[in-house]
Amino acid sequence: MRILAISGSLRRDSHNSALLRAAADLLPPGVELTVHADLKAISPFDEDDLHQLPVAVQRLRDEVDAADAVLISTPEYNHSIPGQLKNALDWLSRPLIESPLRNKPTAVIGASTGMFGAVWAQAEARKVLAAIGARVLDREVAVPSADEQFHPHGHLNDSELEQEIVEVLKALAEAVARRHPVAVPAGGQAAEEPVRSG
Ligand SMILES: Cc1cc2nc3c(=O)[nH]c(=O)nc-3n(C[C@H](O)[C@H](O)[C@H](O)COP(=O)(O)O)c2cc1C
Repeated sequence: MRILAISGSLRRDSHNSALLRAAADLLPPGVELTVHADLKAISPFDEDDLHQLPVAVQRLRDEVDAADAVLISTPEYNHSIPGQLKNALDWLSRPLIESPLRNKPTAVIGASTGMFGAVWAQAEARKVLAAIGARVLDREVAVPSADEQFHPHGHLNDSELEQEIVEVLKALAEAVARRHPVAVPAGGQAAEEPVRSG
């Protein structure tokens, strides 16, 4: 199972990008996670360009399409999500019926240097994802005081936060398994059913 991770921060030393790297060390067996590398290259949304998507938008779209699940880590900017993340989600949302996020198991986590760990931004992200038709987990992981939460080598220094991330990753894997049930023929070996869009 493949998770595509997207950090809502463009900053080189982003705590949210660090959080996704920490999550990559906490994956359940059989799950791999790759981080989308180029949110900064996504141009401003322009409906006129939908017939010929910009290269970076098409790349992100293909990555979401190829992933079984999506994990977003968002900072909080003025109690909401960063414009660049919203912009990317707007691109991914059209045409709505063909959105690669539609029915995609998706989870949101977040880190901020404030006291609340980007909870409002996470709620906003879940709201936008639900509007797009993603299967959004009703969970959050709030990492407050993010500038104090990471060891120099990247691990979180709070085992409870690590456990919360483990739970979210497990819930994502379960949501994917529910979407792609494994058929077990009588007396035979388990085989995965074809991917269903619904
Ligand atoms: C424009 C701007 C607005 C911000 N607004 C909030 C906010 O509403 N709540 C909060 O907790 N932190 C806020 N912050 C602080 C961010 O949480 C902090 O910069 C965080 O490290 C950003 O995430 P990153 O490290 O992944 O880039 C704001 C930062 C910026 C630059």
